[in-house]
Amino acid sequence: MKLTKLMATAAVGVVLAGAASAEDVEVLHWWTSGGEAAALNVLKEDLAAQGFGWVDMPVAGGGGEAAMTTLRARVTAGDAPTAVQMLGFDIKDWAAEGVLGNLNEVAEAEGWDAVVPEALQFFSKYDGNWIAAPVNVHSTNWVWMNKSVLDATGLGEPTSWEEFIAVLDAMKANGVTPLAHGGQAWQDATLFDAVVLGLGDEFYKSALIDLDPEALGGDMMVEAFERMAVLRSYVDDNFSGRDWNLASAMVINGEAGAQMMGDWAKGEFLRADQVPGEDFVCIRFPGTQGAVTFNSDQFVMFDVGENTTAQYAMAKAVMDPVFQSAFNVVKGSVPARTDVPNTDFDDCGKKGMADLADASANGRLFGSMAHGHSVPAAVKNAIYDVVTAHFNGEFDAQTAAEELVNAVESTL
Ligand code: BGC
Repeated sequence: MKLTKLMATAAVGVVLAGAASAEDVEVLHWWTSGGEAAALNVLKEDLAAQGFGWVDMPVAGGGGEAAMTTLRARVTAGDAPTAVQMLGFDIKDWAAEGVLGNLNEVAEAEGWDAVVPEALQFFSKYDGNWIAAPVNVHSTNWVWMNKSVLDATGLGEPTSWEEFIAVLDAMKANGVTPLAHGGQAWQDATLFDAVVLGLGDEFYKSALIDLDPEALGGDMMVEAFERMAVLRSYVDDNFSGRDWNLASAMVINGEAGAQMMGDWAKGEFLRADQVPGEDFVCIRFPGTQGAVTFNSDQFVMFDVGENTTAQYAMAKAVMDPVFQSAFNVVKGSVPARTDVPNTDFDDCGKKGMADLADASANGRLFGSMAHGHSVPAAVKNAIYDVVTAHFNGEFDAQTAAEELVNAVESTL
């Protein structure tokens, strides 16, 4: 390690123990798993090398619900952090409250308009002003499989719902838990994203983006809930409350065959020294090939008056093309900029980048409902409640579809 970097890293340690100064960034985030923390370190080190301190404000809980609750409390107390990891519609909701800083100066100097895709700019801008810096693009319609467990089934990588079920059945027959899953509302919703998309782009769009009551309560939604119940039957009995990274670990150690999860799961596989194509395989949720449900982690800067030096430095660092490659290689996501080469990415990352470009070019790129990119939080939470209640056996498929219409309507 170079001396300057070493000194900067040491400085971070000092800052962590003390109060924040003007040259620090206090960052509220939910990147607490092994893979996530490794990715976050890339950012911490980048800022440290520039002489900026890091005050860490981690709030565990995938999907960021707990982090958003903490954030609300901090802002209400008049003590907003400098920067906050945030998703989709939450960014717009906070912007509407008039409490965010303006990043136009950095965005213009760095030419963000030309390199950030429209689908992301939709969330990074409010009233035409840049208010957030997108660090990545994740997508939710992936399945992560243990390669030896898959090979032991004698079946190939599934490309349709029927083939997927055949693989899960064969895993069960081999004495392995077919599906690793954690019973938390956001994880159930992540499955639901993929299942709904598996029934067609149009269905995903009308149900989870346009909130059309006919799609939310119709026969196809009943089928979606039936499929969710089928998936539930492949999950072990101890799934309740399990964290997503522990479900990833079950696939990594061969206790389970597959996990349906966003590509942050890949960060866990890499962290365990697993090699794509050798130890694990990444496939699109069978039946959704060519389409992508995305979410993008963005750093939102709260209004801190004149004191913007550290914020601007962080925004600039986050958007640096070299950083975007280094960070996303570790995180499992793909760059938020269109001009970052795929050279350093593994096969799953290269596939992720190509899928994103294709889906975007073909009108098959959709915001993830589960991760705050298709509807505002109030609607998302109403959908979560129904999906989770059904997943835990409280409703049959028909009732769940009816409840979904009611739940969404109550928020509009
Ligand atoms: C975020 C990811 C994160 C995942 C699990 C998602 O909502 O976009 O960055 O890794 O939640 O915590």
